[in-house]
Amino acid sequence: MRIYGDPILRKKAESVKNFDKSLAELVDTLIVTMKQEDGVGLAAPQIGCSLRVAVIDPTGGEEEPLVLINPKITSSSEEHVDNEEGCLSIPGISLKVSRPSLVSVHAFDRDGNEYVIENAEGLLARALQHELDHLDGILFVDRVSPVARQLVAGKLKKLAKTGREKAKVA
Ligand code: CO
Repeated sequence: MRIYGDPILRKKAESVKNFDKSLAELVDTLIVTMKQEDGVGLAAPQIGCSLRVAVIDPTGGEEEPLVLINPKITSSSEEHVDNEEGCLSIPGISLKVSRPSLVSVHAFDRDGNEYVIENAEGLLARALQHELDHLDGILFVDRVSPVARQLVAGKLKKLAKTGREKAKVA
């Protein structure tokens, strides 16, 4: 797992061009890692691969995880909602983040078939926005108030040191 401070988490990930065997392997690795780490979602940069691929499982393993390749948010609601968020790349920190309550997303599945998710809400809406942010190098701590961020500044500084060291040997 790449940790806060690792430069790959700040890069804009590349679009997937080939829906080939290596993509299928990446998707499988993401799903396995997400389950092992008990996460709601995981984006490829978090495991060191700067491609626009993410997986989400808002049901805790009850349904097949959603596979999102080259995803785009096509609409989001004016109405925002606050909720607690965490991230496998930012262990030990959770903060309230304000995000649109509804989003629609356009994406491709692992076989290259286009699909849409219309007006996702609740945990799914939040996870979609969180994971899509990862593909643009944005982390949830960027979206909190300056006051909230100040409260975790010390922890983030420590994590960043770990993240940078880990990145060097990865
Ligand atoms: Co995350």
